[in-house]
Amino acid sequence: MSQLDDLIEFLRFPSVSADAQFKPQVEACADWLTGRLQKVGLQVQKFPTAGHPIVVARNQHKAGRKTVLIYGHYDVQPPDPLELWDSPPFEPVIRGDKIFARGSTDNKGQILAHILGVEGALNEKGDLPVNLILLVEGEEEVGSPNLEGFLKEHRSALQMDVIAISDTAMVAPGIPTFSYCLRGVLCLEVRLRGPSADLHSGIFGGSVTNPATVLSRLIAKLHDEKGHIAVPGFYDRVAPLEEWERQLWTKLPYTEEQWRATTGAPKLGGEEGYTFLERVWARPTAEVNGFASGYQGEGSKTIIPSRAMAKLSFRLVPNQDPAEVRAVITNFLKTECPDTVEMEIIDQHSGRPYIVKPDTVFGKAAQRALARTFDKPVAFIREGGSIPITQTFKEVLGVDTLLLGLALPDCKAHSPNENFAIDNFYAGIRLNRHLLEEIASAA
Ligand code: BES
Ligand code: MN
Repeated sequence: MSQLDDLIEFLRFPSVSADAQFKPQVEACADWLTGRLQKVGLQVQKFPTAGHPIVVARNQHKAGRKTVLIYGHYDVQPPDPLELWDSPPFEPVIRGDKIFARGSTDNKGQILAHILGVEGALNEKGDLPVNLILLVEGEEEVGSPNLEGFLKEHRSALQMDVIAISDTAMVAPGIPTFSYCLRGVLCLEVRLRGPSADLHSGIFGGSVTNPATVLSRLIAKLHDEKGHIAVPGFYDRVAPLEEWERQLWTKLPYTEEQWRATTGAPKLGGEEGYTFLERVWARPTAEVNGFASGYQGEGSKTIIPSRAMAKLSFRLVPNQDPAEVRAVITNFLKTECPDTVEMEIIDQHSGRPYIVKPDTVFGKAAQRALARTFDKPVAFIREGGSIPITQTFKEVLGVDTLLLGLALPDCKAHSPNENFAIDNFYAGIRLNRHLLEEIASAA
């Protein structure tokens, strides 16, 4: 079986962690992964959790070698909206130089590349240059609710020098990219209740408050006219961007028009006073991820809806703390909400931002591995996305994480038609070899 066939098998599992309906398929995916890692020749264990299993594999550890943990996730985001996919999300197809399927970039293609890199080295040399721990979880896309507990419980078996992850961006095809910062995230759901049931808007209209109107007003109040977040206290701990970062970012091969074209939006938007890269990488945001109220069907229906709901999320930057920001937001929403409707705020997952100095001993080893793999100078970036477990790794295990991403700007992670460039799949396999070699000899 070819390496690409392995990827196709892996991608066929609809391992959607967010939706309980997919639980058996998530489990089946973990079983497949366990079997595949056994075939590589590693010792593998599948650990059940209160949610989805964690799969851990290791080689024979030997004294005197560096220990590296490679982390990835086998769960994927929901594939919706299905009608916008050109081919079914869990029936992988190759079109041109890409493979299309949910999870192809985020994160099955990237973690499988590492696994196949390890397999290649073992087949050729019979051993790896390092002690390896591969940890692949099934709950990254829902905020890794069970991983911190797992790390604490298995702390003594989880001692390592450094962690590596390929689950971040690459600035352009062929440009090796080293990420040194991830944003944090905070998710919550706001529910408003007005009348006990939808009401006739003629008979009652004018005498009760419409929860959809209130929720719209609350959402509108999150930002001011200039795109700044208008919640008092929200920016209190935001660390400013440093000059060396600004300098490095001016060298990146990004243009505003290219970025806009990737989004498909008519024009870029955001906070006044910052470039588009600064807005995404170094500034926090407030987003509405979902909004529902009233009649959604064809034609009109003259009602005052009983309820309104919004799913909100906030991207956080160093040194914001999700618990503090949650309090600030909750307090704002409650204070601004009129007493003619009832508000309930449901706390959802959150995760802290992560930042690391790029030029540590292992950071430099990772940069050498990237440069060897792509034969180009390395680009240094922050990320807009989040991998909250990185900060937990630092706090619980005391170890830095190297972020060596292979996700191209048009990979459509979390969107319809997610894809992975096949070149990057093979590059990831080579990157793994180089990375383990460079870490082994780093000093
Ligand atoms: N791979 C992404 C994170 C990412 C994407 C980092 C692009 C950098 C660039 C990861 O799988 C992800 O999507 N994480 C979630 C985390 C959340 C659910 C806690 C995210 O960022 O929305
Ligand atoms: Mn993701």
